[in-house]
Parts: sequence; structure tokens; C-alpha cells
Amino acid sequence: AGAEVEGYNEPSVNSHVNGEYAKINWDVLGFGLIPTDYMYIMNCSKDQHFSQGTLTPFGKIEVNPSSGILNYGQGLFEGLKAHRTANGRILLFRPEENAMRMKVGAKRMCMQAPTVEQFVNAVKQTVHSNKRWVPPPGKGAMYIRPLLMGSGPVLGVAPASEYTFITYASPVGNYHKGVLNLIVEEKFRRAIPGGTGGVKAVTNYAIIYKPIAEAKAKGFTDVLFLNAEKYIEEVSTTNIFLVKGNEILTPPTSGTILPGITRKSIIEITHVLGYQTTSARYYEVEQITLTRWYELELMTMWYELEQITSTRWYELEQTTSTRCYELEEITSTRYLLIVKERAIPVGELFDAEEVFCTGTAVGVNSVNSITYQDTRIAYKRGAGTVGQKLYEMLTGIQTGRIEDKMGWTVEL
Ligand code: COI
Repeated sequence: AGAEVEGYNEPSVNSHVNGEYAKINWDVLGFGLIPTDYMYIMNCSKDQHFSQGTLTPFGKIEVNPSSGILNYGQGLFEGLKAHRTANGRILLFRPEENAMRMKVGAKRMCMQAPTVEQFVNAVKQTVHSNKRWVPPPGKGAMYIRPLLMGSGPVLGVAPASEYTFITYASPVGNYHKGVLNLIVEEKFRRAIPGGTGGVKAVTNYAIIYKPIAEAKAKGFTDVLFLNAEKYIEEVSTTNIFLVKGNEILTPPTSGTILPGITRKSIIEITHVLGYQTTSARYYEVEQITLTRWYELELMTMWYELEQITSTRWYELEQTTSTRCYELEEITSTRYLLIVKERAIPVGELFDAEEVFCTGTAVGVNSVNSITYQDTRIAYKRGAGTVGQKLYEMLTGIQTGRIEDKMGWTVEL
């Protein structure tokens, strides 16, 4: 079964076939569905709470033709990953964050939602029952897809009378094949103020197929959406960051941008990224090895400032969206640390040295170029870039290679 499914590969002689793993070729994973053994399913009626979820073999479900999801798109989804560590542990990354985001989305879409505990339990059971599909270390991840839908019948436009929560999983590799060459989308919009762009509604996704298809037909990988005022929003399935001088910039999630969990994690990491200020525009963090860099960050998490006695800190500016610190005496060099969530006019793409995308499916992916009104802007990628360091850091924590002092990973 599954030979016709995108991304599915028949076992090859090189497969890991020692019984612990499913018999597929782990070396060629893409981002496509590979059916696994079980899914978790839980139902509830309107005005009641979810209860009594069960694991059941992965397969088709019955859906009422008049269901809220099929007729009016009353649905939400989530995406999160499980990684296998080098010493065989399985780590989930921040599952409570997905659970909370689903709850927020459910309010917007007038749906019942599972509790955080029910959500995390469903994810754990799904991963546990499909353990043999969690790729070997370094070969990819298990992508877990929780879905919440209005499953009860409705004909008039109104919330459904029943809700179904399903969690299934698939082993995956990289989302994007090859380098990212984006085009700024000027005709289509992903979201509007007051709409559902800030929640993970299923209806946010089919509407971007056409702009993506048009971009691909012109040879681009993906599109960068703008808002009506020509400020940067997000790439079709990822958030976006610009590195400009000693600043890392990303647009604020004020309703039209998906509040990505990878985005949030990267901001939390970059709050403490060390930037040398001796040269005004160009920073050099290369001299700090990754481990040292991580220690530096952890020593200097902003909420732990009081505990740091051997380092002098100056809080230069702090609003809800901007944290800016200067620190001294760490390595007798001065570092300036700035991360800003602020509106970014599209023209600033021309001033950035680096651009990178973040998302559960993509991780952290440096952008090779962005084309805006026929001008192609090329960006730095690879060794020594901020995007690369953040990628190393994030995947290091997710895969257990770097100790998780953030408390982000949940062991199965
Ligand atoms: C994710 O990164 O989990 C996403 O939501 C992207 C997905 C639509 C493939």
C-alpha cells in the first residue's frame, strides 16, 4: 500500500530494516504523505467537551456530505515534529504551543477545541504508536498533523453540531527542494485585517495555490506576500526574517500573519544572539564557536538577568516587541543584541544582507534571492550567516545534539 502516494518509496537494499524501523528508504524522504500505522481520533458535540479519544488504524474516515468542514471550511490544522536523537530518544518540540494555538484558532472559527492536555496526549499516542516511522537520526523527522473540523451536518451558514479531532503522522524530509528563490506577490493577498490569517484555518491554504503555481511557472520557489500597504507579511507556509546590520527584523503578528512556533523560538533565541558592534554594519559572530555562542545566549536570557552577577547588562530599550541589550565582559568584546518585531516596508528587502524563513515544516531556511518588480536581490547564505547559526541551534535543540536549556523539548 502507498506506492502511489507522493513521497512514498518502496524499501531499498539500503533501508534500515532492523525491525525498529519501518522498511522504507530513509535516505530519500521528501515532504509528502507516507501513510503510517495509526491515527488518533476524538469527537464531541457542540457545547460539550472532547473526551474518549482512541487510536485507530490510519485510513479513510466517513464524513457527512453536509459537514461544516466540507461545506463552509470550518477547520483548523497544526503541524509539529518529533525527532529521534543520536541516543535513541524521541523528542517532541513545544507541543503545548500548538495546542494553545489550536485553542485560539478554535475561538475564531467557533469550534470546540481539545484541551492542551488532550492535544499533547493525542500527539504522544500518535507518535508512540507509529514509532517505527520516526526517521533515524539525521534522516528527517516525523511530522505530526493534528486536525480539528466541524464534522456535524449544517446547511445554513452556522457552526457545525459536532467536532472531530484527528492526529496523524508521516515521516518527512526537507520541505523545499533546492535553494529558495522568492518573488514578491503583488496581485494576490494571503490575509486581510480582521480575517483568519492569524490562525491556522484550513481555508488559508488553498487560496495560495494559485499565486504559488504562477510563481513556479516563472521559475521561482515560492512567493512573499505583502499587505495592502506594501509591508512584508509572510511566505506561503513560513514566517520571514531579515538580517540588516546589527538587527534581525520580522513583521509583528498582528492578525494577518501566522504566529509561527518556530518564529517564536527563533525570536527567543535571537533575543540573545551576540553581535559585535565594532563595525557598524557588519557583524562577526564567527569567532564564537557554536557551543560558546549557546552558552553566551543562555547566560544572557533576558529574564535571567538578575541572576547574572559577573556580567554587566544595560537594557537599552524594551517594549513588548523590541528587546535590545548591550553586554560587556563576556569575552572582553562588546556585543549589541537587537531583535525587532516591526512593520517592514517591501523596499527594505534591498537593504538586507540576509533573509531567512522559519516554519515547522521548513525549519530555518536561508533565502537565496527575492525578486521584486523585476529586480533580483541576492542574499548571503551558508557558513557563518545568522540564518545558518540559528538553523544549527534550533535543529540542535530539536534533535538533542545541543542540550535543551530552554525546556522546549518533550520526551516521548
Ligand atoms: C508547517 O510548517 O507546519 C506548516 O504549516 C506548513 C504546512 C502547510 C506544510
